[in-house]
Amino acid sequence: MPAAVRNIVVLTGAGISAESGLDTFRGPGGLWEGHRVEDICTPEALARNRPLVLDFYDQRRAALGRVKPNAAHEALARLDAKWAGDLLIVTQNVDDLHERAGAKRLLHMHGELMSALCEGCGGRAAFGGAMLDGPECAMCGEGGGVRPDIVFFGEMPYEMDRIEAALAEADLFVSIGTSGAVYPAAGYVQMARHFGAETLELNLEPSAGSYNFDESRMGPASVLVPAWVDEVLRG
Ligand code: OAD
Repeated sequence: MPAAVRNIVVLTGAGISAESGLDTFRGPGGLWEGHRVEDICTPEALARNRPLVLDFYDQRRAALGRVKPNAAHEALARLDAKWAGDLLIVTQNVDDLHERAGAKRLLHMHGELMSALCEGCGGRAAFGGAMLDGPECAMCGEGGGVRPDIVFFGEMPYEMDRIEAALAEADLFVSIGTSGAVYPAAGYVQMARHFGAETLELNLEPSAGSYNFDESRMGPASVLVPAWVDEVLRG
């Protein structure tokens, strides 16, 4: 760890939630198996086969009620509570396990299962039900236009300016449980390095981006993340 770490950016992916029982995207048994990505996660798919897309995400939203945060989410929440410097946890995950563990300095760059986006008014509102039931928008009251508040392929991730500003100030960038296959998140390690941060990867196995990191530690997130948080908080 660099001597004087003050500002930390943490990027998380599906691997941090795997031990909670949520499938990753690209591993064996991954979510895309049986469903081609372009059949589910694009604006075109939503236009062509809305019930399929809504049902896919309704099922994933319902699954959140059957899982809970694991030791890795809890360790990041502990870091969030105790770290005196700047911290931004950027998650690509659409589950709510970071916030259920207590993380506050958190941003969902790919959207959230527990949120609805209205195609009519553009409003976003907390949502816990089933979109196949045809709910009305909580903001404008219109029906029929409520869709998952998820960033589909071809759409712009949320809060990129805020993420890039945090990367520019970071002394330490830590990537946890992500395959490094999807941009722009996969490029954040290079951006952080460019701005002078030390970079650390915590992942089950080598990823497409491992060679970009100063250090890569391989193992399950539930073991690696608590150990790393202890290390950082010890200073
Ligand atoms: P992936 O499924 O591509 O990668 C998950 C990574 O986690 C892999 O490198 C695994 O080796 C690793 N992993 C699995 N189990 C682990 C464990 N117990 N501990 C640590 N690591 C583990 O998921 P993401 O990189 O998150 O976008 O995928 C990025 C984006 O692709 C997602 O956000 C999603 C998808 O398109 C949207 O939904 C918009």
